[in-house]
Amino acid sequence: MRFYIDTAEIDEVKEAVDKGWIDGVTTNPSLIAKSGRDIKKVVKDLLDLNPGWISVEVLSTKSAEMIKEGTAWAEMGEEIVIKVPMTEDGLTAVRHFSSVGIKTNVTLVFSPLQALMAAKAGATLVSPFVGRLDDIGHVGMELVEQIIHIYDNYELETQVLVASIRNNQHILDAGLLGAEVCTVPFNVLKQMITHPLTDKGIEKFLKDAKSAIIK
Ligand code: E4P
Repeated sequence: MRFYIDTAEIDEVKEAVDKGWIDGVTTNPSLIAKSGRDIKKVVKDLLDLNPGWISVEVLSTKSAEMIKEGTAWAEMGEEIVIKVPMTEDGLTAVRHFSSVGIKTNVTLVFSPLQALMAAKAGATLVSPFVGRLDDIGHVGMELVEQIIHIYDNYELETQVLVASIRNNQHILDAGLLGAEVCTVPFNVLKQMITHPLTDKGIEKFLKDAKSAIIK
């Protein structure tokens, strides 16, 4: 399974890259706004860190403008993936990007049929938002299961990028289902490494080792 970090905070990306935790980065307009920085500067800094594929979302809602915006981002580097919302206009843009070899990530996917249409348009990645579905009382991971099932049935090449991840359980479930990628907030990446019994075990081993030396 590949991990992307879901953030626009450069220090978080740097730490995750340095520690070898990630294979890419996803950003979105809310994360960029939260960083308080200019989007171009953020994207440039991300490219400098060489974290793998970097998803950058278009802000236009009409296909012609999405194509213009996405093409300009793609010119900044081969690692740029154009994030396009799951709309009719979005899919027209995805079709274009696919025809000229620009990678895409279809975002805000909440149904398996949306994911099927994204794949038919030639999306490189599709992002089902599991946390936001959980938030409204659905089981977000059922969507991931259905998308993987349909993609397998028809040997579609679009990869499933599980997004809107809130906790370790989401990642475990995504791994058991065979999703190709999870995009994970920094705090959840850290949570994956820790376990209270590991900490307790280390504490006991160190205590026992100390008393053994004293005897
Ligand atoms: C995906 O690429 C999005 O940036 C992200 O996962 C959205 O998650 P949220 O529901 O935590 O905003």
